[in-house]
Amino acid sequence: MQKKVRITVVGSGYVGLVAAACFAEIGHDVICVDNDQSKIDALKGGACLIHEEFLPELLDRHRNGRLQFSANLAEATAGSDAIFIAVGTPQSDTGDADLSYVEAVASEIARHLTHYTVIVEKSTVPVYTNEWIRRTLERNGVERGMFDVVSNPEFLREGTAVRDFLHPDRIVVGSDKQEAADVLSAIYAPLTDGTYFDGESAIPGPLNTNTPAPILHTSTKSAEIIKHASNAFLALKISFINAVSNLCEATDANVEQVASGMGLDSRIGGRFLRPGIGYGGSCFPKDVAAFRSVADALGVDFSLLREVESINIEQQKRFLRKIRSALWTLRGKKLGVLGLAFKGGTDDIRDSPAIALIQMLIEEGCTVCAFDPAGMERAHAVLPVSATMSYAADAYEAAMEADALLILTDWDEFCDLDLNRIKLNLRYPTVLDGRNLFDPKTVSGAGLTYVSVGRPTAHPIREHAVKQTA
Ligand code: UDX
Repeated sequence: MQKKVRITVVGSGYVGLVAAACFAEIGHDVICVDNDQSKIDALKGGACLIHEEFLPELLDRHRNGRLQFSANLAEATAGSDAIFIAVGTPQSDTGDADLSYVEAVASEIARHLTHYTVIVEKSTVPVYTNEWIRRTLERNGVERGMFDVVSNPEFLREGTAVRDFLHPDRIVVGSDKQEAADVLSAIYAPLTDGTYFDGESAIPGPLNTNTPAPILHTSTKSAEIIKHASNAFLALKISFINAVSNLCEATDANVEQVASGMGLDSRIGGRFLRPGIGYGGSCFPKDVAAFRSVADALGVDFSLLREVESINIEQQKRFLRKIRSALWTLRGKKLGVLGLAFKGGTDDIRDSPAIALIQMLIEEGCTVCAFDPAGMERAHAVLPVSATMSYAADAYEAAMEADALLILTDWDEFCDLDLNRIKLNLRYPTVLDGRNLFDPKTVSGAGLTYVSVGRPTAHPIREHAVKQTA
């Protein structure tokens, strides 16, 4: 029988809530703690709080059973073998991660520790954070033998976080003490030995594969660096293909063919080579900046990361220039926008390139009518309804009487749109697709001018766009 571990997860955001639900799912007793009592009340009352596939099912399955919610960290600490810190590490003005929430949690844990406990960094933190957590506990009078600090970074993508957790490419455990590493091995055993997948109600992996996950044991510092290095590398891949897509536009090559040709090389791999309007979200922009800042602080030249960031920002501006090229002038133009979330499959609008572009367009004098399948509620807070900003009930309404339709988020359901209906609704039949969701031939076949990213288009408007953006 698997060893049951008593776990506390501090933080009920994307990472904390998913981790808590998934630890309960693989058989452990979990308390998810948040100091926001209203969130705890909502979670106890049956709410899910975030848009995440399978999460409502897991919460319903384990709430009031193996998964409890509490605002009382003291009580949770006293009854736990492992405490995962999954609180926010927002970006400060300098680009550094602001670790004040992590420090506050570590201090509070210190005040209530009654027995040997493994403290686990789950939030994305810079290298050396484990030492700061250790020092914080010691400064608060906790004896060294009472705890260990372990780094166990998450690699969860929003929208597929539950599947990513239960079917990870790898589990990384960074620990400088065997006893602590053993606790983490016991926690993840149902995934690493595959017993979780024997359960009838197990959440299936992508393509229904149920392969046991490899676990990689490293030093604590290596694990901390693995997290930042992985996200920075993925961001680099995106900026790289975006720069290549600009080259394709300048030469009439097709970035999708180029990406396919590159991706078939197993050393490169085909994933994360989709060009677009730049990466966004709560992780990549923040993590690249934090990793760069760590390198700067250590005197290591990692200026490559600055280039990754500047290509990303330039990619948004380039799309704005494409819109301008297609419409000649922007002032007074009415634009339909499909997509507000930073990517499809989520309601998260944090650092969304779609939101940034809408703000630029409104500043340029456009009026925008937007639709997103999940992100509209959150978008209202940053883009309130006004004379220049409105929201539509569906994609067709967003296109109504617009001078052009912009596609800014890669929602699968946008691919199924009836292009003839879109054309009928638009005042001018122009679609600018920042996510390459359509085959250019299909869109132009429906009688629409179609401008996308890094791909040639038959319509003469493209020649104009390329000249202006080159
Ligand atoms: C990311 C990491 O993938 C995950 O491992 C980490 O733990 C958290 O950060 P997430 O932010 O949810 O996950 O989104 P992801 O799917 O990685 O996409 C990030 C951004 O890159 C999105 O804006 C997306 O649209 C963009 N992207 C992604 C591209 O522009 N092209 C691609 O090929 C892939």
